[in-house]
Amino acid sequence: MEELEKVKDKIKDFILECKDEKSLKLLDLLPTGKMLRSKLILKIAGVNEESIKLCAIVEMIHASSLLHDDVIDEADTRRGKPSINALFDNKTSIMFGDVLYSKAFTELSQMNKDIAYTVSNAVTLLSIGEMLDVDLTDSFNTSYEKYLDMIYKKTASLIEASAKSAAILSNKNRDKYALYGRNLGLAFQMIDDILDITQDSATLGKPAMLDFVEGKVTIPYLLLYERVEDKKRLQSLYKKSLSKEEEAWIKEQMFETKALKDSINKAKNLGNEAIQAVKDENNESLVEIMSAMINREF
Ligand code: IPE
Ligand code: IPE
Ligand code: MG
Ligand code: MG
Ligand code: MG
Repeated sequence: MEELEKVKDKIKDFILECKDEKSLKLLDLLPTGKMLRSKLILKIAGVNEESIKLCAIVEMIHASSLLHDDVIDEADTRRGKPSINALFDNKTSIMFGDVLYSKAFTELSQMNKDIAYTVSNAVTLLSIGEMLDVDLTDSFNTSYEKYLDMIYKKTASLIEASAKSAAILSNKNRDKYALYGRNLGLAFQMIDDILDITQDSATLGKPAMLDFVEGKVTIPYLLLYERVEDKKRLQSLYKKSLSKEEEAWIKEQMFETKALKDSINKAKNLGNEAIQAVKDENNESLVEIMSAMINREF
């Protein structure tokens, strides 16, 4: 898509403005992601100078959050390639994340003040969400409310802010688009958590079946815990590196108890709620974006 190339060029321009060779080199080593937040912004606000700039800012923020996330999660792959922390070290990933974050904020400070407020506030939520995510790995979490609050902050807040800011840019109803983005973001993280179980590492571009090992009780595991007969066995596998048999048992129970199917349904329902929020907006592509975000494989 031509407009996504414009976003990538804008990010490059922003980093060129920083006049730092190392930052440029690291940017070149950063594989491009799906750019879903940009697609969302451009569908809502159309393609123009301001919307491209907003996309570049949001993608830089998103990339920063992943640079820090891969240190936090000790992940050595990202977007199918070695992560920056694996290629270099944790320090490099954190420091380059800081460069991207701060340059994004510099540019954000030059935009409409409601947009600057909305997006920067989402980054505070995202950072708190990362802390909650880590804290929730202390012990087996069985609270759906805690999980929902964490994924809202960690993931949905930036997607909500992207949709809302795009609506502000294009004089559309900001509250409706914010609600659309929020529900879309919640569904998106639930799907991410489901793909951890259903997809292999090659497809995901990051290790599969890792969430539970890392102490993350995601939506499929929450439902599984409620329903599985042998709760003791499930608890005994928490935060353990799993044998092939143990992995197979978990997956089998996920199917048998319909924990997986109902997790997918929960995500789909949130997707439909997203659509309900903007049903009067006459923008067919908002349905397409929702489907693309939900019916993905990586
Ligand atoms: C990854 O986000 C982190 C989550 C919020 C699940 P994306 O899946 O949008 O990452 P990229 O940018 O496409 O790699
Ligand atoms: C997503 O969290 C990171 C942020 C939204 C900041 P995860 O840790 O679940 O994302 P992946 O699975 O590494 O992409
Ligand atoms: Mg991670
Ligand atoms: Mg994480
Ligand atoms: Mg994940």
